[in-house]
Amino acid sequence: MNQPVLQGVAALNVPAYIKHQALINWVAEIAALTKPDSIYWCDGSDEEYDRLCAEMVASGTMKKLNPAKRPNSFLALSDPSDVARVEDRTYICSATKEQAGPTNNWIAPAAMRETLHGLFDGCMRGRTMYVVPFSMGPLGSPIAHIGVELSDTPYVAVNMRIMTRMGKAVYDVLGSDGAFVPAVHSVGAPLADGQQDVAWPCNATKYIVHFPESREIWSYGSGYGGNALLGKKCFALRIASNMGKQEAEAGGSGWLAEHMLILGVESPEGKKHYVAAAFPSACGKTNFAMMIPPAAFAGWKVTTIGDDIAWIKPGADGRLYAINPEAGYFGVAPGTNEQTNANCMASMKDNTIFTNVALTDDGDVWWEGLTKEAPAHLIDWQGQDWTPASGTKAAHPNSRFTVAATQNPVLDPSWDDPAGVPLSAFIFGGRRSTTVPLVTEARNWIEGVYMAATMGSETTAAAAAKVGVVRRDPFAMLPFIGYNMSDYFQHWLDLGAKNPDTMPAIFCVNWFRTDDAGRFVWPGFGDNMRVLKWMLDRIEGKAGGVEHLFGITPTFEDMNWDGLAFTREQFENITSIDAAAWQEEVKLHDELFDKLAYHLPQELIETRKTLQRRMAS
Ligand code: GTP
Ligand code: SPV
Ligand code: MN
Repeated sequence: MNQPVLQGVAALNVPAYIKHQALINWVAEIAALTKPDSIYWCDGSDEEYDRLCAEMVASGTMKKLNPAKRPNSFLALSDPSDVARVEDRTYICSATKEQAGPTNNWIAPAAMRETLHGLFDGCMRGRTMYVVPFSMGPLGSPIAHIGVELSDTPYVAVNMRIMTRMGKAVYDVLGSDGAFVPAVHSVGAPLADGQQDVAWPCNATKYIVHFPESREIWSYGSGYGGNALLGKKCFALRIASNMGKQEAEAGGSGWLAEHMLILGVESPEGKKHYVAAAFPSACGKTNFAMMIPPAAFAGWKVTTIGDDIAWIKPGADGRLYAINPEAGYFGVAPGTNEQTNANCMASMKDNTIFTNVALTDDGDVWWEGLTKEAPAHLIDWQGQDWTPASGTKAAHPNSRFTVAATQNPVLDPSWDDPAGVPLSAFIFGGRRSTTVPLVTEARNWIEGVYMAATMGSETTAAAAAKVGVVRRDPFAMLPFIGYNMSDYFQHWLDLGAKNPDTMPAIFCVNWFRTDDAGRFVWPGFGDNMRVLKWMLDRIEGKAGGVEHLFGITPTFEDMNWDGLAFTREQFENITSIDAAAWQEEVKLHDELFDKLAYHLPQELIETRKTLQRRMAS
């Protein structure tokens, strides 16, 4: 291969196994712009992972946890200003503002390129640029797509190795001219000659930028989660949602990139269904995907395909097939324990990277909700001494673990089948302390799309903004759709119209209604199996239900209550539909539809009118 000579910057040292000249030229071009001290090509090996982790322990970015308690595991503490996704700094730079739509930040591509050029010029000085090749989806499978991330932090390299199929084999798939999504990431903290680095470099200025036409990602200023691990939200949702729609525009069947878990559920008789569920960030996807059914459901098995992202395509039979493009979980730590999610606890017993949880005196980890009583002393997520009297959170509310899917004891045997799994149902769920009932079944595809489109949820610590505010979060995709939200609704409607008899059923759930004292009424977690079972029975035509204003809901008698002391009154409490509250709720639907008026599908406007008529009578 031709090794471009870089004026005054690090030698490229391209490994001989890389045969892709355009990729090499791109790496050279970015190196010339960002001016790293050295360039390192990741091969994805165990040896490399261990070495990079050891280097980060030496530099103070990570602590090695006690191998007797948590073998081969590490803790990273971020800068206190860099703890979550930055939605107000996230941009979709399509050719026109209309293409990005009213729910996305937009700046004209040429202007954004100029800004980025200024920010990235010399931004990697004093650092190593890691070249991270990865596949979203099984390597070499027809549904997978490849990306290459250039990052100036080894924390990204090791996390990408867990979260994606990362390494040398990606170059075999790419060959000499394969397509890849170029993704450039910098923490935005160049080092002057001899300047001492900090444990978590980042910059107060942040940009998370997507160019849907050229399928490029540029991320500046943050090292945290979805801001920095660019295969996840940036590629597998924002760029991939564009790919799925562009494919339909080019005459294909079209596909979906969704913020959904995928699980398998098998009855004692061996009948298996797969369902995909979209809940907003920190609203229970990981937990639902690994759920342990209650004892009364002996013989029922829930298995995980994925916990955060689904790519969904119609098969030759017209059914929708889903794959998980990821290979690991970047999950919320707080609230996870042996009772709420024992499978998740087992997944992270070793080989795990923790970020922003607390450190125990014996070198293990702790977070709020792990145990009933907090340890007497901890080092908190900001590196400070902590006791239960401190009055602060020991772990950040958005603290997370990174762990390979293969660590999950209930990983579904088909989890990396390139053909995907056929979906029987879609579930949409928000976090709502009032108004929205436990579960509702849509009577048809359009009504289901309406429910998903108008879904509201209380904001969580997963984004850097105020927590607990109800906002519309259509399809749990508000922060992740890579194009105009109304066109996205249309894309969903079109998919249903093309395959009217083979679409999955659509349900809406809410695990989060509270009583007068602010406590969750629904036990949640494993008991969500009771709701799932009602859904499966509905799909198989075995369960009753009653119609209400906007769908079908179970009566108390339609649900299995074995082993749970849950009263009719409690059930009433979380399934009742308060007419006054719904009058207020649909005003919020109208506000959303006003905002999305450009290209808003007529079917949704009609559904809104029908709902209005029913509410009036
Ligand atoms: P992202 O990774 O941000 O996309 O989030 P997620 O949807 O995977 O959220 P996760 O499953 O990690 O749950 C987030 C929080 O919700 C945790 O603190 C859980 O303990 C809590 N949670 C999950 N399921 C339930 C439930 O059924 N009921 C209640 N009350 N809380 C739940
Ligand atoms: C989310 O916020 O929905 C996540 C975590 O899954 S992050 O990868 O940071 O986006
Ligand atoms: Mn998520």
